[in-house]
Amino acid sequence: MCRQMRTILRWGLPLLAVLAALAWGAGTLVQHTTRQWFQRDVSLRARLAVDGAREALAAHVRSGDRRRLGVALGAIARDDRILAAAICGDGMRTLVRTGTVPSGFNCEELASRLPAAMDEGGVELVEHAEGGLVHALVMPISDEAGPVGRALVIHDLSFATRREEALRRLTIGAFAVVALLASVLTVVVRRESWRTWTEELRRLLPLPGGGGTVSARPRKLFRPLLSDLRNLVAELATEQSAASAGKWSAERLHHTLTDVLRGERVVILANREPYVHERTSEGGVRVVHPASGLVTALEPVMRACGGVWVAHGSGSADRDVVDRGDRVRVPPGEESYSIRRVWLTEEEERGYYYGFSNEGLWPLSHMAHTRPVFRAQDFRQYERVNRRFAEAVCDEVEGPDPIVLVQDYHYALVPRMIRERLPRATILTFWHIPWANAERFGICPWANELLEGMLGSSIVGFHTQLHCNNFVEAVDRYLEARIDRERQSVVLQGREALVRAYPISIEWPNHWAMEAPPVPDCRRRVFAELGLAPDALLGVGVDRLDYTKGIEERLLAVERLLERFPHLKGRFTFAQLAAPSRTLIPEYRGLNERVEALAKRVNERFAAGTWRPIALLRAHHEPPAIFRYLRAADVCYVSSLHDGMNLVAKEFVAARDDERGTLVLSRFTGAARELTEALLVNPYDLEEASSALAAALAMPAAEQAERMRAMRAFVQDLNVYRWAGRMLVDAARLRQRDRLSSRLGPGLRAVGETEGELKRLPPGA
Ligand code: G6P
Repeated sequence: MCRQMRTILRWGLPLLAVLAALAWGAGTLVQHTTRQWFQRDVSLRARLAVDGAREALAAHVRSGDRRRLGVALGAIARDDRILAAAICGDGMRTLVRTGTVPSGFNCEELASRLPAAMDEGGVELVEHAEGGLVHALVMPISDEAGPVGRALVIHDLSFATRREEALRRLTIGAFAVVALLASVLTVVVRRESWRTWTEELRRLLPLPGGGGTVSARPRKLFRPLLSDLRNLVAELATEQSAASAGKWSAERLHHTLTDVLRGERVVILANREPYVHERTSEGGVRVVHPASGLVTALEPVMRACGGVWVAHGSGSADRDVVDRGDRVRVPPGEESYSIRRVWLTEEEERGYYYGFSNEGLWPLSHMAHTRPVFRAQDFRQYERVNRRFAEAVCDEVEGPDPIVLVQDYHYALVPRMIRERLPRATILTFWHIPWANAERFGICPWANELLEGMLGSSIVGFHTQLHCNNFVEAVDRYLEARIDRERQSVVLQGREALVRAYPISIEWPNHWAMEAPPVPDCRRRVFAELGLAPDALLGVGVDRLDYTKGIEERLLAVERLLERFPHLKGRFTFAQLAAPSRTLIPEYRGLNERVEALAKRVNERFAAGTWRPIALLRAHHEPPAIFRYLRAADVCYVSSLHDGMNLVAKEFVAARDDERGTLVLSRFTGAARELTEALLVNPYDLEEASSALAAALAMPAAEQAERMRAMRAFVQDLNVYRWAGRMLVDAARLRQRDRLSSRLGPGLRAVGETEGELKRLPPGA
């Protein structure tokens, strides 16, 4: 049944029934009242007639003169409406009569229906006779000597019935017309007021397709409702888009940017560029995807959002492919965003990147037992290069209040520098590595500068709440700042920065996994590359050669595995894909040598024929090769000694659409908090690690599938689009708050006041 029909049935029928009942009631009331009026009128006339002739009638009855009695009676009955009149004598006998007495109304017939004694007023009867309704009045006639008889006057009341009926119809008709007019009027008024409401709301709210502008001045009537309505509409729109889009995806992130942030251009600042152009030995140019968790996460976000990625131009052919503004469109063939390259001198790179970033902040932030080295000249370069990048960002933004995403420990000073130039910018700073506890952080000679620099941000993000807490503790200990633990924010010199946990992730669906060959093909190819027997068991590790990754502990765990489970000798091989990294730093070169020597020693110890337990593949591997290994593996071991998140663990999960393979994961990674179905180990504990490896290799397929399914569902839900989406929605809240408070004027903003407004913004995830 159509909607209109249902509305008519629901509202129209009951309305009609009520109106009909009212009309009927009114008609009946009118009829009853007029009947009484007519009756009273007729009764009065009958009485007047009898009263006027009473004496004469009494005298004629007494004298027995019927002729004169008849004449006197005729005088009474002259009125047209009087049907008949009669004088009843003793025993109610008819003495005389005029006209036609309706049957049942003769004196004799009435005798039994009248009381024996009758007072002056007489008795009235109103009844239906053959010709219609009649009114009969019987009045006593008497003289001084006493009662002599009774006078009967019968009036025709059928005219009254006709008039009553006409009046009743008129009343019902009039009532129906009035009700109809009232209904039509109500509908028209209702429609008109609804139209005014919706037009006004469209004007005021940025409804999809409504063409509204937030700046439209509301009528007074609407002002109190306006902010509630706006928030409700935004909430509904977000819920609707969440429901229709389902999980977070590239499309949904894109829509979040266009809907919630009104299509703002995103500018990302990250030292490592997502595409490095390298000169080949043949003189050509090849594009390299660098080994970097940060790049793994942010590159899909940029593909979804567009915008600019400001980075260090580090490739040997980078300068050859940029335009005059030092920009190049990427990804090759898709060109959905730009890289803006910043060139550094060797000296700058040495001080800023190798020195302060990677010999100072990196070991400071990771509990991997490498001493940080802090040199004043490195910090000077760090500061200088931070300023150059901040300027590059300011060149790339559009307008005075851009959204800038500052990434990682290379740029701790940049947020404040940008804030100085663009006070209204929304700056989201994300620290991709752990943040040391306050005591440890304090060993950095420039701890205060770093904290003050970071607090130029609007939001400071970490992977875990623990790292947020460490940061806030450091601020508490080293700066004169106000900590608002309820809002999780820090207020420094009147400026507030929120401190929030946003655990990072990978793209889902993962395009590298989707483009990879089927698992049996990957397995065949990898086994052939490694010279493994078809029934061999394969373990895989994928890392940059970095001392935080626990590669030495991993190889030692493999050694311990073979010691404790000799049946795996000749059968199990561990392939370590190790990308050389930061090789100008002595620590990294030392690690390189140690890992190589360790692999050699373990291999020599267990070598049997062509079988070796460890395949150390020390080279940069492009993502297709990495995903081939991850898909071919029986077990993937991530043994970081300390890691902000570790996205290789999540990539392994993404790679295994066949729901096979087991993840052994260090409990000192951020990922261990999320991928709880992995076998979690302490990588320093070689007994525990080797037991986990043995358990992983012996795990039944059904259990592998159960664990893998759960982890895949988790990563699918909490993918990198959600990570970026949540930050951008939070940024939108801040921007709204800033807009609202700027309307109040400087100094008038009360955080508590705007909180209510903020809470009503759509939830990001
Ligand atoms: C970590 C850092 C990233 C960095 C990556 C690779 O994941 O958080 O910022 O890009 O390591 O290091 P690299 O020095 O080669 O960029």
